Amino acid sequence: MDVYAVMGNPIGHSKSPRIHGLFAAQTGENLRYTAIEASLDGFETEVRHFFQEGGNGLNITVPFKERAWQLVDRKQPRAELAGAVNTIWSLNGELVGDNTDGIGLVQDLIGNQGCMLREQRILVVGAGGAVRGILEPLLERKPAEVTVANRTLAKAEQLVELFGHLGPLRASRFEDLDGPYDLIINGTSASLAGELPPLPTSVIGPHTQVYDMMYGNQETPFNRWAREQGAAKVMDGLGMLVEQAAEAFFLWRGLRPDTAPVLAQLRQRL
Ligand code: ATR
Repeated sequence: MDVYAVMGNPIGHSKSPRIHGLFAAQTGENLRYTAIEASLDGFETEVRHFFQEGGNGLNITVPFKERAWQLVDRKQPRAELAGAVNTIWSLNGELVGDNTDGIGLVQDLIGNQGCMLREQRILVVGAGGAVRGILEPLLERKPAEVTVANRTLAKAEQLVELFGHLGPLRASRFEDLDGPYDLIINGTSASLAGELPPLPTSVIGPHTQVYDMMYGNQETPFNRWAREQGAAKVMDGLGMLVEQAAEAFFLWRGLRPDTAPVLAQLRQRL
């Protein structure tokens, strides 16, 4: 039986085994997908060990995606740009790394949520690893503009240097933002600390759609704030999680699972 796993630390709450288990059942693929907690100083050894033992593919999650980027022998172009790897397989004795997070977000926005990106004014909040992974697929969809706003302006400016050749991208401080935007994507980790990025309320108008890359069993603080400011629609990152998994499944197995029933089952459990 082919063997896959997600590796992270901690890994106890990962939904990936369940998602890939549902994909496998749906497509009739014969595979096993488990969760492995790698030690903080032994991650690289454990990845190599997994493939030496005949493992077929790994997903990599927090906090190892950047280390996985360093570790693999070859990277797909979108992973190279993203600076992070979340999907690994072995080919002719080499480890190949890819990143499916960005396409997962865009697929959820367009395919599941019915959002338009073309010609839209998009605000991306945050400039860390999560945001770096989504800028290329967003800009590919030809938005009117993408503004990256971050607490630390220099990090947003670095992303403009890296991705600015792909489309209309600019950096801003929170207080300099002029809204409203058509779509706001929160890619900060602020809500992990129960905090909100201090955005001016003018970024939200009655037509603004808001996507928080986080999710939880309760509405995220960012989405609650956005709704209170009158946003037209708020969305959380559960669909992105399922879509990035579907893209990884496709890379490994060559089959695209139907994500809708899987997302519905996960939503029910939240
Ligand atoms: P990740 O890989 O999840 O993106 P990261 O690279 O550490 O994690 O980035 C975290 C992002 O959340 C950064 O943009 C960070 O802002 P700074 O670059 O200024 O540190 C942002 N962030 C975290 N806590 C925040 C808060 N309380 N308010 C606003 N932004 C916050």
